[in-house]
Amino acid sequence: MTGGNSISAGISVRVPFLDLGSVNNALREEFDLAWKTVLNHGHFVGGPEVERFEHEFATYCGTRACVGVANGTDALELILRGLGIGRGDEVIVPTNTFIATAEAVWATGARPRFVDVCPDTLLIDPDAAVAAINSSTAAIIAVHLYGQMVDPEPISAIAAAHGLALIEDAAQAHGARHQGRGAGSVGIAAGFSFYPGKNLGALGDGGAVVTSDLTLADRIRSIANHGRSAADRYLHDLAGRNSRLDTLQAALLSAKLQWLDAGNTRRAEAMAAYREMLPQHCIPVSAQPGAEPVYHLAVIQVDDRREVSDALTAAGIGWGVHYPIPCHQQPALATLHEPAPVAQRLPVAERAAGRILSLPMSPTLTIDQVARVCDVLGGAL
Ligand SMILES: Cc1ncc(COP(=O)(O)O)c(C=O)c1O
Repeated sequence: MTGGNSISAGISVRVPFLDLGSVNNALREEFDLAWKTVLNHGHFVGGPEVERFEHEFATYCGTRACVGVANGTDALELILRGLGIGRGDEVIVPTNTFIATAEAVWATGARPRFVDVCPDTLLIDPDAAVAAINSSTAAIIAVHLYGQMVDPEPISAIAAAHGLALIEDAAQAHGARHQGRGAGSVGIAAGFSFYPGKNLGALGDGGAVVTSDLTLADRIRSIANHGRSAADRYLHDLAGRNSRLDTLQAALLSAKLQWLDAGNTRRAEAMAAYREMLPQHCIPVSAQPGAEPVYHLAVIQVDDRREVSDALTAAGIGWGVHYPIPCHQQPALATLHEPAPVAQRLPVAERAAGRILSLPMSPTLTIDQVARVCDVLGGAL
């Protein structure tokens, strides 16, 4: 999750890490209308708002279908299940990601196979992905972390050459593009999260799968709705579960979707200001040539994170770390597999985990606030 914070946040926050209050206050009237409409018609699960949002979000992502689900973790799990991936399969996952990417894999019975990331972008390293492929590999999850897409070309070529499903984890990348291609439109399917702090965030949990494979979309819709047959609601022809997007959240998301691009532009402006004003010892994560990131997070690397973060806290500036423990080093892994996985070294991600620091970022962050953060960083070492 990226809203709260993985390690800690400032206490007297004069520059908040994420100013969700201002973001949502600007849409108060639309939210009131959405709530009244749903209350009046009384369909709280399903209904016209879900259909409308699914249509709008598929159009936004450039895909033929969207299935609203309960959260981003479920979106990934449902994609894997929809593709028939499970016990006996391995799924390649970059170790630098929120644990949810791995959780989705192990929820299906498949094994996440963690790989290292590129030192400048901290996104999956395509060479490491190739090296991890074996006869059990069924899929690769490309995580568009911090708002930046994984370069679609090399990762798609690898998946195609080895007959693997390419799945996008786009939980942090609503609206991101790379050389004309949009997040969600590259792989067989993509999972999005609408956790409140995301670039497109609900007022509660929410998620979506987007895909242009209509058969897969139907399968996922069924699995997410108790495995129901489309023809007969009392016939359950797939082993399903309950993971649906609430009607109210869908209505709120439709209202917010109209502002997503404007919010992403504001984030890009704030990031450009950071790049200009950051002191030398604070190195921002690189944007690749051709990338148009949406800066879900403003991540820098520093040598002495403790000293820098202490200075931010003392100045009332919110911060976070995404993520301080790479997935392959999380203790939960040892409880999952028999025999326990062998200790793995993924040096790029391990080094970065000790150096990364997420600075305040939101569509309402002002250039003055960026300047203040950079001043404090400049005085920190
Ligand atoms: C990269 C990534 N993947 C998956 C998820 C899971 O989304 P959710 O919290 O909606 O289940 C998140 C959310 O924090 C995320 O950041």
